[in-house]
Amino acid sequence: MMQAFRFVGPLLRRLDPEVAHGLTLRALERGFGPRSPGPDDPILATRVWGRDFANPVGLAAGFDKDAAVIGPLFDLGFGFVEVGTITPRPQAGNPRPRVFRLPEDRAVINRLGFAGAGADAAARRLARWRAGGISRGILGVNLGKNRVSEDAAADYAAGARALGRYADYLVINVSSPNTPGLRALQSRAELERLVEAVRQALAEALPARAPPLLIKIAPDLEPADLDDIAAVALERGVDGLIATNTTVARPADRQGRHRAEAGGLSGRPLFAPATRVLAEMYRLTGGRIPLIGVGGVAGGAEAYAKIRAGASLVQLYTGLIYEGPALLPRIKAELAGLLRRDGFDSVGAAVGAGYDMK
Ligand SMILES: Cc1cc2nc3c(=O)[nH]c(=O)nc-3n(C[C@H](O)[C@H](O)[C@H](O)COP(=O)(O)O)c2cc1C
Repeated sequence: MMQAFRFVGPLLRRLDPEVAHGLTLRALERGFGPRSPGPDDPILATRVWGRDFANPVGLAAGFDKDAAVIGPLFDLGFGFVEVGTITPRPQAGNPRPRVFRLPEDRAVINRLGFAGAGADAAARRLARWRAGGISRGILGVNLGKNRVSEDAAADYAAGARALGRYADYLVINVSSPNTPGLRALQSRAELERLVEAVRQALAEALPARAPPLLIKIAPDLEPADLDDIAAVALERGVDGLIATNTTVARPADRQGRHRAEAGGLSGRPLFAPATRVLAEMYRLTGGRIPLIGVGGVAGGAEAYAKIRAGASLVQLYTGLIYEGPALLPRIKAELAGLLRRDGFDSVGAAVGAGYDMK
């Protein structure tokens, strides 16, 4: 099945990216997805938030927005899967076309704008998945706000109430560039309000077992913003940070003909800026809060660089669009090789090992 993507992949890449994505989801739903061969190399096992990950490579938010194909995604070999962004109510998102490939840059620009079926539909799917008893991996649930909603804190709290029980970790996503005003929620006062509101919702809905709470941040923040986020995270006991979402910056050397499209840029050009923000958050939090590194990972070398910069876990999305599911076994084999080459006996031992080399 891994082999099949070699033939299907080039065909998919000729279609409109959103049409190709829809076909991929349908194929996964019907069980046509490949299965990653065998159990993971034990050197890749890691423990974060008291949860065991078979490997540290996860699927980033945005691929399975409606929590429709969790099982097949674990079958591909991900150590964890983050579904969403899920908004309280369904919404259509921005007009199409709204996803663009920049193949020369190994990048994508998207301005989907949190298109999705909403929290009730996601809750039904997540309940069904949990009832199936297949707990092969760790599941993250990424929360957003509806575009028209005036009260952001109420939206995140509603998402936490509806979906917290199904999540191994919850994400407050305040960093997507396609919902007006969303990224302003990364300011200190707003973040404090959001964390407070979600914590309270979780305390009411799940008093004994609230999941770890993470914040996903943008790569386009000023140093003062990063200071504020680190302070809120430390003071309010936020359990983790995800660095980073897509960028609104446009590095000068991009080639793809869609390079001027509005939206968030992901993939290779995001690797360096996202890793800089990750390393800076590791420094600012003194390594006391687990970080997930995401942005431009397309091989073991990038995953390893993120871990050395301070990431306990890594995620990817755009790499999968260009490399297909064979990326998973490759990235894991490369990462295991790099850890052994440098004398580490686990992922955890390498976390932050290179952060002073900036
Ligand atoms: C098509 C597309 C849709 C995305 N949708 C979301 C989303 O709904 N929520 C979110 O937090 N991030 C979303 N992202 C951002 C990714 O989760 C990730 O942070 C970013 O793409 C950088 O990783 P990458 O370079 O490996 O793609 C999306 C990315 C892409 C390419």
